[in-house]
Amino acid sequence: MRDDDPRLPSSPGFWRSPLRGPWFTSVLGVVLLVGVTVLFVTGLVSYAAYNPDLARVNDQTPDKGILGFYLFAWPTDPYWLYRLTQGLHVTLGITLIPVLLAKLWSVVPRLFALPPACSLAHALERISLLLLVGGGLFEFTTGVLNVQLDYVFPGSFYPLHFYGAWVFFAAFVAHAALKLPTAVRSLRRRREEHGAHGERVSRAPEPGELVSPRPLPPTVSRRGALWFVGGASLLLLVTTAGQSIGGVLRRTALLAPHGGADPGGGPNGFQINKTAAYAGIDAAETGEEAWRLVVTGRTGTVRLSRAQLLRMPLHSSALPIACVEGWSTQDQWWRGVRLRDLAALVGYDDPPDLFVESLQRRGAFRRAALRANQVADPRSLLALYVNGEELSPDHGHPARIIVPAAPGVLNTKWVARLTFGAL
Ligand code: HEM
Repeated sequence: MRDDDPRLPSSPGFWRSPLRGPWFTSVLGVVLLVGVTVLFVTGLVSYAAYNPDLARVNDQTPDKGILGFYLFAWPTDPYWLYRLTQGLHVTLGITLIPVLLAKLWSVVPRLFALPPACSLAHALERISLLLLVGGGLFEFTTGVLNVQLDYVFPGSFYPLHFYGAWVFFAAFVAHAALKLPTAVRSLRRRREEHGAHGERVSRAPEPGELVSPRPLPPTVSRRGALWFVGGASLLLLVTTAGQSIGGVLRRTALLAPHGGADPGGGPNGFQINKTAAYAGIDAAETGEEAWRLVVTGRTGTVRLSRAQLLRMPLHSSALPIACVEGWSTQDQWWRGVRLRDLAALVGYDDPPDLFVESLQRRGAFRRAALRANQVADPRSLLALYVNGEELSPDHGHPARIIVPAAPGVLNTKWVARLTFGAL
């Protein structure tokens, strides 16, 4: 069978959709060029927000080596920073899925073209295409599974998604560098293909172009097909973004397992990730009699009861919970003892880094590390109240950490021990 046999996918004649073409592919490509770049940057920012270079407990990808070159001390201002970057990462990722799939559909004939490689450069380009397509599908799939709480990946999400991101983005940059001139030419030529009165001036497809040599009669125009893809992205956007924006829009977040759930009313009525029951918190340990906060530092260790904490200066901060899954709460009014005041209690006028341990027995991040700038921020609290009421067990009673701009997982709940200056 010859490779121009239209019964074979290797033959251009096999692909009969009249929609394929350089303009259609270029428009999708340009949208992905911007979207994937924003995804990569917000993803890298998400990793940096963990302060992974501060302590091993914060780092889920310790073998990253030079891929961690960009890390920096995560700031506490603006206090909504992580809420914005991670909300954007997850919402944009989901919104781009129709664009990614339409782009892959538009170039699928290329994957079957023969010969597989006719020069070294062509072979390298084909290999980068495999990394691009494989890496893209891998990143979007692991991302969606993660936010849908389906942890079915072979191993930990963090290194898989992190390394996958670098492979995908490297192939993406190579592809964009190679194809951008073609894309710009196709977008420009589209205009030239319309005569003085906007009438369509057809021209013969150039060799290798994605245009079908024997197209089926059109049922929709290329522009119509792009509107359809845009409509699908818009639908995903309006059924996802509500989990990050919050307020009345939260109910529209139909695709968000956590972010769209109804947490009930009252001062403690806002979203949570882990319940006290899931975390294995024993109510007997959190009672007034049993619970003691153990604070260790330069001058030794002190054990504080809730009553003793309540006799310390209490402060309030309006801060959101911003989850790594992309959902976030509105600003909540937290009230408690400043972390820097607790540091002063054990000999630090200039707050050092802090190691936090929880009563939590199950789930990730039972321990976390905070950098000195986070500890020193006057809005960083060991919170005992929220919205004027004692913390509920699911929100971390008897006490939890709340720090501006930090990922939710670093705002440890059910705090048992604080160790200053040990990192
Ligand atoms: C539907 C698409 C996507 C979704 C839903 C998604 C979701 C997520 C989530 C939930 C996290 C935080 C994980 C955590 O800290 O627990 C994350 C981190 C990250 N994402 Fe994505 N992602 C998507 C696509 C992408 C793409 C296309 C890239 C690369 C171009 C990317 C790069 C990253 C990076 C570098 C991280 C940091 C990983 C780490 O903290 O170890 N993501 N993503």
